[in-house]
Amino acid sequence: MNLFRKKPLIAPSNSGATKLNKTLGALDLTMLGVGAIIGTGIFVMTGVAAAEHAGPGLVISFLLAAFACVLSALCYSEFASTIPVSGSAYAYSYVAFGELLAWILGWDLVLEYGVAAAAVSSGWSGYLQGLLEGFGIHIPTALSGAYNAEAGTIINLPAVIIILLISYLLTRGTKETARFNAIMVVIKLAVVLLFIVTGFFYVKPENWTPFLPFGYQGVVNGAATVFFAYIGFDALSTAAEEVKQPQRDLPIGIISSLAICSVLYILVSLVLTGIIPYTDLNVSDPVSYALRVVNQDMIAGLISVGAIAGMTTVLLVMLFGQTRLLFAISRDGLLPRGLSKINAKTQTPIRSTWMVGIIIAVLTGFIPLDRLANLTSIGTLFAFFVVSLGVIALRVIHPNMKRGFRVPWVPFIPLLSAATCGYLMYNLGSETWIGFLIWTGLGLLIYFLYGYRNSKLNYKYDSN
Ligand code: ALA
Repeated sequence: MNLFRKKPLIAPSNSGATKLNKTLGALDLTMLGVGAIIGTGIFVMTGVAAAEHAGPGLVISFLLAAFACVLSALCYSEFASTIPVSGSAYAYSYVAFGELLAWILGWDLVLEYGVAAAAVSSGWSGYLQGLLEGFGIHIPTALSGAYNAEAGTIINLPAVIIILLISYLLTRGTKETARFNAIMVVIKLAVVLLFIVTGFFYVKPENWTPFLPFGYQGVVNGAATVFFAYIGFDALSTAAEEVKQPQRDLPIGIISSLAICSVLYILVSLVLTGIIPYTDLNVSDPVSYALRVVNQDMIAGLISVGAIAGMTTVLLVMLFGQTRLLFAISRDGLLPRGLSKINAKTQTPIRSTWMVGIIIAVLTGFIPLDRLANLTSIGTLFAFFVVSLGVIALRVIHPNMKRGFRVPWVPFIPLLSAATCGYLMYNLGSETWIGFLIWTGLGLLIYFLYGYRNSKLNYKYDSN
């Protein structure tokens, strides 16, 4: 058995039923990146992270998580500008480390995007219901949340509906999706800025003391939790085959979207912990809540609207990323080929988009997934870890390849990146690790029962 057979470095075939349309530029990518990044992490999870882990030291948690992400973003940029194919970390490891690790990563990213989308849609539903209640509209209890006999809920209908709507939008075409995304991103950026500017006038510096009530370990645990808030820039590299000039545009999109979000997050966390004591922040909508406490109800309402728009775009990019990932994996034969079929009219993988949409809608409708953010984070950190080491491997295996972007100080930066990601993974707790290991085990089973035999590399070896 050859579990480490590698893919040669060739561009994917640009014709036939598996060709995607090239429509995206650097600005579209930056917007898609911001669209993927700012969402449940900043609007919902900051509250728990401040109240239970970091206290006002939350800002340090955000800085630490940003540090890990910036290093990984550099590594992603080098890969994306060298091997601009659909499939992100999966495709990179196929070239750098061979099939087995590539499959494990691909399978891991399917989990990342799927669970993230399910968790974000239930957060979306929560914010929507809060807003509707402000107008006196109540969704029947049975339809308002995932199944819970005690609470009387059966299905989270708003979450199911939003997932199906987004799936529909995705089947319409990438350019249409990017346009919708751009409008929502502008709204979301506006409300984040509105929060920072309004909140600034209500900051009481005494709320920042004690600054580290849970000590250094609290800050690190907080960083592992808010890492979720940064996830998304990596999803950009799944769009590589739809980018006009990937060598130039992908690094710009990845690095600028991450930079914009990091600055905003650091400001939001400073202002948020300055407005009210961190102990009061453990609510489901901390950003709006803080402004309600200081009687800015109108602005708090606007922020809820923006948060809903914000989470919508996260869903969009997560679902987009997942279909493009399945596209890439099935094109290589490791999953059934039907998943890489492109519709001739819309130039999008309609079949896999609906399949993914329906599975995630079922998950979010019936299973309470809001606690699964950590599972998303561990999967993502693992991908960052492998991509970082992959940069070093690719420099050794293919030293002379044309690289649109080069990580400085190799191997120091990639090693530091891998170590930081490993450290955050280590701090994610045993429950998360168990979930992650079960998923990986299931993936290995599928690989040995299906993927290994059906891999296209296999077929090539046989026919050559
Ligand atoms: N970064 C994305 C969010 O916070 C996943 O919703």
